[in-house]
Amino acid sequence: MLDGVENDRIRHVGLRERVTSADEAAALIEDGMTVGMSGFTRAGEAKAVPMALAARARQHPLKITLMTGASLGNDLDKTLAEAHVLARRIPFQSDPALRKAINRGEVMFIDQHLSETVEMLRTRQLPRVDVAVVEAVAITENGGIVPTTSVGNSASFAILAEKVIVEINLSQPAELEGLHDIYIPTYRPNRMPIPVVTPESRVGLPFIPIPPEKIAAIVVTEKLDSSATILDPDADTRAIAGHLTEFLLHEVRAGRLDHTLQPLQAGIGTIANAVLHGFIDTPFHDLKMYSEVLQDSTFDLFDAGKMRFASGSSITLSAQKYQQVLPRLVEYKPRLILRPQEISNHPEVVRRLGLICINTALEFDIYGNVNSTHVGGTQMMNGIGGSGDFARNAYLSVFVTKSVAKHGAVSSVVPMVSHVDHTEHDVDILVTEVGLADLRGLAPRERAATIIANCVHPDYRPMLRDYYDRACQRGGHTPHVLEEALSWHVRLAETGRMI
Ligand code: COA
Repeated sequence: MLDGVENDRIRHVGLRERVTSADEAAALIEDGMTVGMSGFTRAGEAKAVPMALAARARQHPLKITLMTGASLGNDLDKTLAEAHVLARRIPFQSDPALRKAINRGEVMFIDQHLSETVEMLRTRQLPRVDVAVVEAVAITENGGIVPTTSVGNSASFAILAEKVIVEINLSQPAELEGLHDIYIPTYRPNRMPIPVVTPESRVGLPFIPIPPEKIAAIVVTEKLDSSATILDPDADTRAIAGHLTEFLLHEVRAGRLDHTLQPLQAGIGTIANAVLHGFIDTPFHDLKMYSEVLQDSTFDLFDAGKMRFASGSSITLSAQKYQQVLPRLVEYKPRLILRPQEISNHPEVVRRLGLICINTALEFDIYGNVNSTHVGGTQMMNGIGGSGDFARNAYLSVFVTKSVAKHGAVSSVVPMVSHVDHTEHDVDILVTEVGLADLRGLAPRERAATIIANCVHPDYRPMLRDYYDRACQRGGHTPHVLEEALSWHVRLAETGRMI
């Protein structure tokens, strides 16, 4: 028997009889199936059904292909990996236990540009989704699904799946309804332009439209989203923010930007969050975001009166910020939109709006190629996420990182990156706490000179300059000493240090 609150959340009367337990809903998922679950950077993931699935798999082993928007909270990727449920995982994760299983070769991880997964599903280039499991704040009178703190790939999963399981989460505020803008592009090659022309553009519906008969089960839950794991700004991230601010002010003085800048995209993680937070103490104002994840810094900028509008695909906050923001959601709501990740990251829209995109590198090389995913060239960290969607199509493609990692044992600037996610052609600006390299309009030899002079930690600069000088003696458009190009990584693997 449902109570009043549950009736308010399941407004389609006929669907109320589909409310069932997580175990029964999870029974709809069979060995070998492809399952699309909601969840994007630890926000808005289905919570009860995957837990029930993992519990079942511990007794009766089964394997699935799991697709999501991005990473899951509540240790779900860990729980599913440890229960050996995951045969394949698409398109992003950030969990240490799953990362280990991927790097042991137990889970086949397809590291994909986040805008592309549903495009490939729609064109049947990836296996069809058998079951979609979507967290919702409500089901409308007509059976439309209202997502919670993320949209991610949920809309297309639900539209394309054979069956849909909805998790109604009573702990997610009802006020989330109205925040989402669900727009699904038409089929190619006759696709019409995506009508997003400003970050504020509302072009779709506030719910995921599916025929109600596809909803096979409804599970009522109350589990909260996990909080973000980002750290507070430190001296290095403040210095990175400072260099970037100085550069953007220079662009304003040169007449290429004004103090409202261009719409901003900022990547996941501690560094990108800290850099954006640094904009509080700048003359920039009336800023807008057209990004993927809205982190603490977005709301800090709202509260500081610096941000006018933010469009994203999820809201992922620290525990403290979560407590502050969710009760005041009604206040922020007119200045927020959550979209499918296909739209938040769409190359067409990114190029049209002219975004300033700030993403994080693990390492970059003297020519500006960026590695964001593979430690030491082989060990998967998280995945490329949306960074490639944005970097290639940005007005300004900025990559940030600290100049050293692991207390100085690792230089983040190397002769040649050990894995390439973003080629030199997709990278305009590189920033470390040491300084900023503006690579626009520079040829490879000029790029190398600029990067070595501005971004490298003093402990590593002489070594890198020596490498580059010897490479230049050999000649070439992009000079290298090939037999030494990865020697820094080899030394790190053998001795634990690059120097
Ligand atoms: N070699 C080895 N390890 C390195 C390294 C390098 N060159 N550079 C950083 N690391 C390690 C750090 O030591 C840290 O390890 P720890 O967790 O054991 O302390 C870890 O990588 C994270 O680095 P940190 O400096 O804290 O940065 P971050 O939290 O901002 O994350 C990325 C950086 C690159 C991992 C993260 O931004 C990412 O996954 N990016 C790819 C996806 C993406 O850009 N999405 C954006 C679109 S929204």
